[in-house]
Amino acid sequence: MNIRTQVYGTGMKVPDHIITNEYLSTIVDTSDEWIVSRTGMKERRQVKPEESASDLIVPASLQALENAGITAQDLDMIIVATISSDMLFPAAACLVQDRIGARQIPAFDISAGCTGAIYALSLADQFIRFGSCKYILVVGAELLTKITNWTDRSTCVLFGDGAGAMVLGPSQKEGHGILGSHLASDGKGGDLLCIPAGGSMMPPSHETIDKNLHTLQMRGNEIYKTAINTMSQSVRILLEREGLTPDDVDLFVFHQANLRILEAVGKRLGVESDRVFVNIHKYGNTSSASTMMAIHEAVEEGRIKEGSYVAQVAFGAGLTWGGILWKW
Ligand code: ACO
Repeated sequence: MNIRTQVYGTGMKVPDHIITNEYLSTIVDTSDEWIVSRTGMKERRQVKPEESASDLIVPASLQALENAGITAQDLDMIIVATISSDMLFPAAACLVQDRIGARQIPAFDISAGCTGAIYALSLADQFIRFGSCKYILVVGAELLTKITNWTDRSTCVLFGDGAGAMVLGPSQKEGHGILGSHLASDGKGGDLLCIPAGGSMMPPSHETIDKNLHTLQMRGNEIYKTAINTMSQSVRILLEREGLTPDDVDLFVFHQANLRILEAVGKRLGVESDRVFVNIHKYGNTSSASTMMAIHEAVEEGRIKEGSYVAQVAFGAGLTWGGILWKW
């Protein structure tokens, strides 16, 4: 049998605390009407001050392991996609390896903005298909509320915290699993979405703190069109390679950055809205966690079933973009 990579179990974790649009309108000059009409977001989740990325990654991972019917000891690799890791280093994946009781397996983080989970899944797919790993834990996790400038209305209303996990392993049914992946980047757009300070280019100083340069800066309207173009492009490339069309796809799981972006990509592909998964109203933009949480919810809701064709597609900082085409 031709080995492909399939999902054995999914999991997710979001904090209990909800930030509503009404609350945001008490801290910056915004309104529920503006946020809903421009983004589709109604609420998002926020961790407690003392919590860090691995506090969400661990429960999401344990749920994915339980749903997969394996233990942490069975894992051969852990990959975490994040831009808001517990520390600059070591990787969150290493902290998680210890906390879930995995063996001394390879564990590392990937930084590809909101496309991080797509990059991580594509990488895991190579290790599983070539037989060097059996089970791999892939997590997308972000605590964006910790790196948000709460005085900037153009960004602080958009982001939330969450983690989504998948346990991957070799397919048990011919033709099921990852059918293909597409990854791309264009560093010319790097400054459109970044945290300027804290790295080797601009180490932390009183000045960087005073100027709020350790928080996420985004030129949203410059990214908007590129997001629509690149996500549509990824879908087309993935489908063409398999000789499929958008009509063959049961569910499109796009990065939940803005409801208008999801609708525009769907329209460009000629897809009705009931085949485009949306949970942005509940969680806002959770970057690399977004499509992983969406897939977990779609599985739990029965919208992804065995045999479903699913296009998981994202776009984000880097700039990066790409997608995974699944036959579930
Ligand atoms: N409340 C009220 N008014 C606001 C707010 C707010 N929260 N934010 C901006 N405005 C104002 C602006 O000041 C501007 O006012 P002006 O016309 O008087 O200057 C007006 O609203 C329009 O601003 P735009 O930025 O042009 O608004 P736009 O319709 O483009 O929506 C948004 C902004 C939601 C950010 C949109 O551009 C977007 O979603 N961009 C894409 C974001 C994205 O996909 N990012 C990639 C992934 S994110 C990641 O990687 C972490």
